[in-house]
Amino acid sequence: MTHPRSVPGLAGPSAVLMAVLSLAAVPVSAAEPRSGAEVYELVCTTCHETGDKGSPKRGDVKAWKPLIAEGQGSLSRTAIKGIRGMPAKGGRPDLTDLEVRRAVAYMANAAGAKWAEPKK
Ligand code: HEC
Repeated sequence: MTHPRSVPGLAGPSAVLMAVLSLAAVPVSAAEPRSGAEVYELVCTTCHETGDKGSPKRGDVKAWKPLIAEGQGSLSRTAIKGIRGMPAKGGRPDLTDLEVRRAVAYMANAAGAKWAEPKK
């Protein structure tokens, strides 16, 4: 006879893990940062796929040229902080800085940059 609370793996931490996984909506472990493409599909696509609200559209080489020229570090900081119609982290404060920086690299690369996806 085992009390349900004593079953290993069903305590608090696994409930937290389930919550994080359902938020992520992608089958990755909670500890694994999302890739730039994943973050883009999850968050940035809302505005940047169509150029909504005057955002630079994904793959629009002309619109991204001056942004890419700002450099990866500078442009990533802008995306984390937000600028004018661009909300901080695309309006998703639960994203890590690393995930936002990866999404920036993903979008820049879609418009011709050759930025490495940040690792840490
Ligand atoms: C709610 C709409 C919206 C979402 C969601 C959004 N953006 Fe933006 N983004 C904008 C708008 C609008 C601009 C143009 C801001 C301006 O320059 O006035 C912009 C501009 C940018 C820029 C250029 C900043 C600059 O220096 O002008 C980057 C980089 C960027 N977004 C990255 C991202 C990333 C990465 C995500 C996803 C994590 C994201 N955006 C999600 C609306 C959005």
